[in-house]
Amino acid sequence: EEFALSVASLVVASTRQEIAVQYSHYDNHHTKKMIQLPPGVDLGRFSPTRDTERDRLAKERLQPFFRQMRKPLILALCRPDERKNVPALLEAYATTPGLREKANLALVLGNRDEFSKLSAGARRVFYDLMSLIDKHDLYGLVALPKHHESADVPAFYRLVRQSGGIFANVALTEPFGLTLIEAAACGAPILATDDGGPQDIIKHCKNGILVDPLDTEAIGQALNKMLDASRDRWRRWSKNGITNVHKHYSWEGHAAKYLKKVDTLSRRFKSHTFELKPVHKLSLAERLLVCDIDNTLTGDHEALGKLGEAIAKDPKLAFGVATGRHIESARKVLREWGVPMPELFITSVGSEIHYGKKLKKEQSWRKHIDHRWDREAIVQTLKSLPGMRLQPAVDQREHKISYTLRGKNRPDKATIVKALRHADLAANVIVSHDEFVDILPIRASKGHAVRYIALKWGLPFENILVAGDSGNDEAMLTTPAQAVVVGNYSPELGPLKKRHGIYFASLPHAGGIIEGLHYYDFINHDHKGEEDEKSP
Ligand code: GLC
Ligand code: MG
Repeated sequence: EEFALSVASLVVASTRQEIAVQYSHYDNHHTKKMIQLPPGVDLGRFSPTRDTERDRLAKERLQPFFRQMRKPLILALCRPDERKNVPALLEAYATTPGLREKANLALVLGNRDEFSKLSAGARRVFYDLMSLIDKHDLYGLVALPKHHESADVPAFYRLVRQSGGIFANVALTEPFGLTLIEAAACGAPILATDDGGPQDIIKHCKNGILVDPLDTEAIGQALNKMLDASRDRWRRWSKNGITNVHKHYSWEGHAAKYLKKVDTLSRRFKSHTFELKPVHKLSLAERLLVCDIDNTLTGDHEALGKLGEAIAKDPKLAFGVATGRHIESARKVLREWGVPMPELFITSVGSEIHYGKKLKKEQSWRKHIDHRWDREAIVQTLKSLPGMRLQPAVDQREHKISYTLRGKNRPDKATIVKALRHADLAANVIVSHDEFVDILPIRASKGHAVRYIALKWGLPFENILVAGDSGNDEAMLTTPAQAVVVGNYSPELGPLKKRHGIYFASLPHAGGIIEGLHYYDFINHDHKGEEDEKSP
C-alpha cells in the first residue's frame, strides 16, 4: 500500500474523512494528489417508482412479524456485524417512550439458515438482539427476516417511503455508507451516524439527521423527532434525497468527473509514449529470456557455451540481460565470457533500458521512472547512516545511487527505508549479497523493467523467462513471468522458496538456466524432433 501510494499520480477517495484521517496513517500521505470522488448508485435499480410484484413480496417477508402492518417502518439493512451497532438501535426503539406505538422496526441483516452456522461475531449480534426483544417484550413489533434477495432491497426502501418511515444506519463508524444513498434514491429519509461518509451524504442530500451512535437516548430522540415531524418536513427529506442523489451520486456524474481528472493527468504526461518500432527483433519474438549476468550467466564456461547455442538456434526467442552493472561494463563482461549479444539490456539494476547492437536508449523508461526522484536529497539523507560508503563514481547513475556496506554497524534494509520515509523521500531500496545497496526511483527495479518490456512489446508473462541469483534479481523473479533461481543463489533469495511459481534449479550458473528452460518447456518447440528421438 505504501508503494502504491508513492507511485500513484492520483489517489481517489470516497470521502473527505478518508483523505484527512484514514490515509494520514501512511508515510506516503500526499493530500495534494488526492481527490474526493464518491461512488455512485445504480439509479435504475434504486428509485421510488413502484414495482408492484416485488414490493408485495418484500412486504410479505415482514408481515409475519408485525401485529399491525400499517405503521411507519424504521428499517436497518446491513451485515450482522458488531460494528454496525444494530442492538443500540433496537435498544433505543425499546426504551424511548412512544416509539413502539408509532412505528415498526425491521432489521434486515443478511441471510441465515441456522444461528449455529454463523460466524462468532454475527452470533453475538443475534444473541444481543434476541435478548433485547425478549427483555423488552417486543414481539409483534420487530421483524428479523431470515432470507431476502438483492432485488428485495430497493423494495424495502420503498416500503419505508410508502409508510412514512425512516432508514437508520447507526454504525459505530461509517467510511462511506452506500446503503444511505441507495435508501435516499428510493425516497427514504435517513438517520445516520455522525461520521465521515454520512456527514458528506447529509451535507449533499439534506435528507435526514446525524446522530452520535454511542448515545442510545439521542438515537431514540432523533427517531421520535423524525416520526413526529410535519408531513411537509418529512416529504422534503424524502424529495431532497431523490433529487440530490441524482445530482451528487450518479454513476454518470462519477464517470464524468473521473475521466476529467484522468484527462488532465494524461495531458501532463503527453511526452510519455508506448510507440513500437516494428523492425526490432523484440517485436517479432514470441518468447523472451532475461538473465542476470554475474553468477547467473557467468561462472561455468561450458554450460554458458551450450546456453548460447540454444539461444542462437531459436529464431523466435529474444535474449535479454538484467544486471546491476552499467551498460558499458555489462557489454564488456559479456564479450569476455563470449555470451551472444543480447537484444535487450536492462542495466544499472533496472534503472536503464537499451536495445540492440546500437544500444538505443529507452527514453520513455527514463521519463517514467523519474517520478518523485530526488537524488541529491537521498544522498544527503543517507549521509547520516553509518556503515555505508558510496561506490565509485562510475557506478553512480542518473537513476541509481549505490553503496557498499562496511563494518559491524551496517544498517539493514528496514533502517534505510525508514530513514528515507522520514525525510519524505520515495525510493526503492535493494540489498544484494549483504554487501551492495542500490537506491533507485520508486518505479524502477529489474522487476518493473521486465513488466514494462512485457507491456511495451506485447509479450505475455508466460512467454517470458527470467533467471537470477541474488537480491537485485528478486523483483523480477517475483513478477508473473516464469522464474528460475540458479543453484548457486545467495541466501537473501532463500525466502522465495516458499513462493509459488519460482523454480529453484539444482545446477549452478548457466547450467541452472538450461535446467529452467527445460522445466518450463520454454525453448524451440518447432524443431525438437531430432533430440527427442535420441532421448530414452
Ligand atoms: C553491480 C553494480 C553495483 C550494484 C550491484 C548490486 O555490482 O556494479 O553498482 O550495487 O551490482 O546491484
Ligand atoms: Mg548476480
